Amino acid sequence: MKLLLTTLACAGTLSAAAADTTITVTKRYLNLPVSQQQGRSVMMYESNGKTLQRFKIRLSAKPEYWVFSDMSAYRGKRIRIRYEGDASALRLLYQDDRITGQDSLYREQRRPQYHFSTRRGWINDPNGMVFYEGEYHLFYQHNPFEREWENMSWGHAVSKDMIHWEELPVALHPDELGTMFSGSAVIDYDNTSGFGKPRKPAMVALYTVDNPDRQIQCLAYSLDKGRTWTKYPGNPLIDSKDKWNSKDTRDPRVFWYAPGKHWVMALNERDGHSIYTSTNLKEWTYQSHTTGFWECPDLFELSVAGKPNEKKWVMYGASNTYMIGSFDGKKFTPESGKHYFSSGSIYAAQTFSNIADRRIQIGWGRIAQRGMPFNNMMLLPTELTLRPTKDGIRLFSEPVKEVNQLFTPAGKWSNQTMRDADQQLAKFNNADALRIRTTIKLSHATDAGLSLFGQRLINYDMNFNMLNGMFYSPQDPTSMELTADIYLDRSSVEVFIDGGAYSYSFERRADDRNNEGFRFWGNNITVKELEVWTGKSIWP
Ligand code: FRU
Repeated sequence: MKLLLTTLACAGTLSAAAADTTITVTKRYLNLPVSQQQGRSVMMYESNGKTLQRFKIRLSAKPEYWVFSDMSAYRGKRIRIRYEGDASALRLLYQDDRITGQDSLYREQRRPQYHFSTRRGWINDPNGMVFYEGEYHLFYQHNPFEREWENMSWGHAVSKDMIHWEELPVALHPDELGTMFSGSAVIDYDNTSGFGKPRKPAMVALYTVDNPDRQIQCLAYSLDKGRTWTKYPGNPLIDSKDKWNSKDTRDPRVFWYAPGKHWVMALNERDGHSIYTSTNLKEWTYQSHTTGFWECPDLFELSVAGKPNEKKWVMYGASNTYMIGSFDGKKFTPESGKHYFSSGSIYAAQTFSNIADRRIQIGWGRIAQRGMPFNNMMLLPTELTLRPTKDGIRLFSEPVKEVNQLFTPAGKWSNQTMRDADQQLAKFNNADALRIRTTIKLSHATDAGLSLFGQRLINYDMNFNMLNGMFYSPQDPTSMELTADIYLDRSSVEVFIDGGAYSYSFERRADDRNNEGFRFWGNNITVKELEVWTGKSIWP
């Protein structure tokens, strides 16, 4: 461990109760030692008497792991660091152009190899997903200062292909109004907000601020492709606590409604999603409310596959349940629902704005990264489509085509017995990154599947129509076949069934009492198709 105490230029008080120290920022990162065994206390960065950041941290002189602050925005400034907790750890803080643990970064034992995860700290919901000038922006609920939820901020990563991500500094820090909860981002091409400059439309983020008293809707904009943000001095835009007699008003999802030439905001208020409209992104008018949802709205229009003139609107909630219906710019009218196409670790999924020809979703993967200095991950980007089914029109989701670049063919077999198929897979038992597509035929079985070290990747009961814990009925209800496209990463499993009709994801956990490896099971089933690809890491 490098102690660059010299760069810390201590110039303050150090006592057991509260302490401060002053630094001149000369390096990119301030590295901070933390431990989950330590209680949380408030830390503040101040410059010229102004608070730049205020957050809670479990600073520890016996660090379990290290986190960091990206200080590039403060380069050359003198920053006073105040800490209200145990001061003994303050002397360990150091500046460097590398984060502590940089040498093993992205190679940690449980680091997802081809799913997005953050360098350090906690992530939950994807936020502000927007495509702009060749870059996909993924903002996300983030606690930079420990592996658990706290200090909600908008983390930020960019990608040219939705596969390889570069993490940028935190985009939105908590401020005097509160912490930064979920929201969305749009490009204001017509400069309706007035925040843009000639040929430089503003990227506008609409987000919820949470404080002990209420949740209010706020705005920030960026003129440099999301790198730096200005919070609107007129915040908050919406404060609807009194109307709903509830603090639960959050997660604005904004898009341009071309037929009406106005902006639409779907906002979760208490028991459902409300619709607000605006012509300038700043002043919003309440229009309607659809009950039956909680948190993280999404609302979008899709054509029905094969019927370009038949379009439907989808209203979506954090639990990944949705309704299908119509929308006139002010009111959503449900026609069917609620349905689901995905279950397991997925939560609070969001789709990109500003992509015309595809509706691409990324979900938060609630996958514990045990013992790691980071937590959770994002699931693979998937393309959503509406397709006619035996039950009516339904959403399907399949990994975007960009995912294919990760995988190299490693074998293909047909009409295998279970034991032969196990043999083919044996050499991949411990692979970190793997894709397996298989069609099983259950001719003499009522339940069957595939396990890996005792964990059931496919667990299909045709009698109860249960697939890994949820009801699933194939398109042909007499079908004896099931096709599963399985994506294994170090700590996760994602499975897409029958061309995306249904999908699920969960933590990958090898049962150490079992040394079987891959094992098909069921009464004498046939492994009709089996195809394997080995995967690559997305990290340098
Ligand atoms: C969903 C959620 C959102 C909220 C955010 C806070 O997971 O509860 O409703 O904005 O997380 O982190």
